[in-house]
Amino acid sequence: MELPFAESWKIKMVEPIRKSTRQEREKWLKAAHYNVFQLDAEHVYIDLLTDSGTGAMSDRQWGAMMTGDESYAGATSFKFMRSTIEKITGFQYVVPTHQGRAAENVLFSVLIKEGDFVPGNSHFDTTKGHIESRKAFAVDCTVDIAKNTQLETPFKGNVDIEKLDKFLAQHADNTPFIIVTITNNTAGGQPVSMQNLREVRQIADKYHKPVVFDSARFAENAYFIKTREKGFENRTIKQICLEMFSYADSMTMSAKKDAIVNMGGFIATKRQDWYDKSKVVGIIYEGYLTYGGMNGRDMNALAVGLDENTEFDNLETRIKQVEYLAKKLDEYGIPYQRPAGGHAIFVDAPKVLTHVPKEEFPAQTLTIELYLEAGIRGCEIGYLLADRDPITRENRFDGLDLLRLAIPRRVYTDNHINVVAVALKNVFDRRETITHGVKIAWESELMRHFTVKLERL
Ligand code: F0G
Repeated sequence: MELPFAESWKIKMVEPIRKSTRQEREKWLKAAHYNVFQLDAEHVYIDLLTDSGTGAMSDRQWGAMMTGDESYAGATSFKFMRSTIEKITGFQYVVPTHQGRAAENVLFSVLIKEGDFVPGNSHFDTTKGHIESRKAFAVDCTVDIAKNTQLETPFKGNVDIEKLDKFLAQHADNTPFIIVTITNNTAGGQPVSMQNLREVRQIADKYHKPVVFDSARFAENAYFIKTREKGFENRTIKQICLEMFSYADSMTMSAKKDAIVNMGGFIATKRQDWYDKSKVVGIIYEGYLTYGGMNGRDMNALAVGLDENTEFDNLETRIKQVEYLAKKLDEYGIPYQRPAGGHAIFVDAPKVLTHVPKEEFPAQTLTIELYLEAGIRGCEIGYLLADRDPITRENRFDGLDLLRLAIPRRVYTDNHINVVAVALKNVFDRRETITHGVKIAWESELMRHFTVKLERL
């Protein structure tokens, strides 16, 4: 008999978690204005708010923490991190930052000016925030099929090459660069194929435009290329990463995801001119060039994490757990963005809560119901997160409205996943009785979902 699949690691340290009663959760959520970001973490039983900075480091990473070099300048930890990044991405210039959005801030300060356009595939909210706060425009050129959650195709995160070409034909003069997010978080953790990255590069070359990868989950993207794209079956994840990055000029990285550290990020590039300009901004906002917001020990852990997580077994363990949750939801008939994404399952909320109108934010309503059901914290990636249109100030209801269940790396077992699936099934089974959603009582101008105050209708 063939041996079943099992994790590629064993557990050396544990952290107790606590259950609560529904009555307690009602009270806590009301006090949090029905915004799960405002909950105390100890009031959460299983936390699927994000896979960012919430992973479990390995013994090798913890070991590396002990040998961190905390020198202000010239730290060996920085050199170790830089050489690891160069080995995996091919980029020789590295500016460390405290996290991904800081890398965006530094690089975009150098590249974007008022009135510019930045086309790409479903910009993440901080990426969009850093574009729009500079009075520039994030132009979404994701393939249309990404909006049909029930269509099962392997590379739903792709850039629509025709849309990109058409856009650049008109606006190339005001386009400083193209951004490709790998994997495409907002479209459901969906990967971008190597073929698509190649084609983006061709279009970029046609218009003499540089390409930036938002690389938070690039290793997961490489896993999908290996397992889904013809011709890559026998390539290692590291070989695939090198080819992916060969089509970009630069990357911004949130190391809190695929480098499996709790905090950290960087810009890496092959463009010396971008590096020279970024250095200045980096020093002002992040810190000197050999730490940029990170401790020496964190840079060591980041380097080891990058190396570990560009190995197949580690990625396979992680992505199979996400698939496991997907299979459970299939069993219960719960609709989600198909196929399962790399870091999360994205439940198609308007298809579940059919009686909640879009103006009452179905995905946020489902997030609330799941927390009340079992103390599980998911995250709305939908109409709230989409913010208002910067010009009309209308809510943007044209995208997807999803409840994201993001799975931290190496943290929960499949037993926890079983609890999540059953809790969601219980909500699903009583969906006909959920007829009202929420309304906004207070919101900020940008990235409102973090701080929004809601009222239940
Ligand atoms: N790009 C992508 C694709 C992301 O998913 C994130 C963060 C960032 C950039 C920003 O990085 O958090 O280190 O500043 N995503 C987290 C999430 C927060 O929950 O998906 P950061």
